Amino acid sequence: MGQGLDASLQSDTVTEQPFTARAPGDASPPRPPEDAPRPPAGRAPEGVAHPKTIKSFVRRAGRTTIGQAKAFEDLGPRFIVPYAARPLDASATFGRSAPLVLEIGFGMGEATAHIARVRPQDNFLCCEVHEPGVGALLKRIGEQGQTNIRILQHDAVEVIDHMLAPGCLDGVHIFFPDPWHKKKHNKRRLIQPPLVAKLAARLKPGGYIHCATDWEPYAVQMLQVLSAEPLLANTAEAYAPQPDYRPLTKFENRGLKLGHGVWDLVFRRRP
Ligand SMILES: C[S@@+](CC[C@H](N)C(=O)[O-])C[C@H]1O[C@@H](n2cnc3c(N)ncnc32)[C@H](O)[C@@H]1O
Repeated sequence: MGQGLDASLQSDTVTEQPFTARAPGDASPPRPPEDAPRPPAGRAPEGVAHPKTIKSFVRRAGRTTIGQAKAFEDLGPRFIVPYAARPLDASATFGRSAPLVLEIGFGMGEATAHIARVRPQDNFLCCEVHEPGVGALLKRIGEQGQTNIRILQHDAVEVIDHMLAPGCLDGVHIFFPDPWHKKKHNKRRLIQPPLVAKLAARLKPGGYIHCATDWEPYAVQMLQVLSAEPLLANTAEAYAPQPDYRPLTKFENRGLKLGHGVWDLVFRRRP
């Protein structure tokens, strides 16, 4: 668990109870009966080291290109921040003090690189677990000579829990998070009350959360969850106009041409 950060803000509701069926020949402790008392969410039952956390991503296979591999080698040491379970010193990490924006799940980094270019006054701490995506963003950083991006190749939920102190963020970007369409997978969605509460607590007063999605049921969920968080206020009646810093990506353009909608949501932390 986290060191030095607010333990009460750490994830506990997005966990699965690890009462699973045993495989034949499984030597693990016996499975408790269905009606056995269960430990509080987030706490492992006796004999189980860690409860199984539901992740918002699956590690996809993907080929890292030669160009991306070279970018890893040349630029990784400067732009990749190693994950560590202790609070991040953002000024030291970026080599300057500037407003800090966290991005969760940048994909191939197309929007990230654009936004960092049009907002040179801000620092962008960007989390992604997909290795080719990290390579792609490093490549863009090299091509565009950008200095205001740092990459954490790690689960953003753990980064939030263990590396980000309350009130340290000026903004959060979550663009087109995995929609997890099937009902049984909806629990994997990032935008749920516990994570939103953690993000809100890490924003400075006046700081913002900007989400975008092209999946209407998820847009509805985002609106409900963000509106229900007491620390946040909507900047619009419901969905927000697309802020001018967020570019239309190739993926989004393709969807728009097919007649799909896109919904932006921008909420601010109350003073
Ligand atoms: C559907 S893609 C969208 C990528 C990009 N934002 C875009 O607009 O094209 C969602 C990305 O979020 C990443 N992701 C999901 N959960 C994450 C987490 N907890 N930490 C870091 N990255 C995550 C996935 O690996 C995936 O690349």
